[in-house]
Amino acid sequence: MNTTGPAGAAPAADRAEDARAEPPIAVLFVCLGNICRSPLAEGAFRRAVAARGLARRFAIDSAGISDFHEGDPPDRRAIAVAAARGFDISGQRSRPVRPGDFVAFDWILAMDAANLAALDATAPDHARARMGLYLEVAEGRPQPVPDPYYDGPAAFEEVLDMVDAAAGRLLDRLLAEAQDGRAAPAPKRRST
Ligand code: 4NP
Repeated sequence: MNTTGPAGAAPAADRAEDARAEPPIAVLFVCLGNICRSPLAEGAFRRAVAARGLARRFAIDSAGISDFHEGDPPDRRAIAVAAARGFDISGQRSRPVRPGDFVAFDWILAMDAANLAALDATAPDHARARMGLYLEVAEGRPQPVPDPYYDGPAAFEEVLDMVDAAAGRLLDRLLAEAQDGRAAPAPKRRST
């Protein structure tokens, strides 16, 4: 059904809605390979956002410091632990962090200190994204999300426990900042 009226013009109520619409809060999760931790972090945060009916307020993605796995789906162990908790990350594809990410995203959240150091080293001068360790930004805990790649399924469970708990905390923080108008303008470089 055509609900936009003659010549595709939006009804007045929709135009008013558009005028109020804020740009989405853009969050990028980063790990080394973008096949284990950051896909789980992305999936868990997407689910937390969707559970509160806020999908339209966020732009969410993940990326790797490396391009080792560019184009690959998440590791099958990551897909499996996510599926066991009722969410599907199998459609994600690994990609490396790109220079434009430092401008396009409000937050770039690293899984560990090495990831964060690599982000700091490659951020362009005109970067506007705020960067930090994920668990520190979300929970005030300056701890890494440990790399499970060379470990067994229990390590993937542990990662999912961490990023699942952090997702709700991050969402609370970002919503509170947006409410206070503190989300922008954002300083360059890392910030917690
Ligand atoms: P991630 O895990 O950074 O959590 O995606 C890894 C994935 C791949 C490799 C290392 C860590 N790798 O060396 O290929």
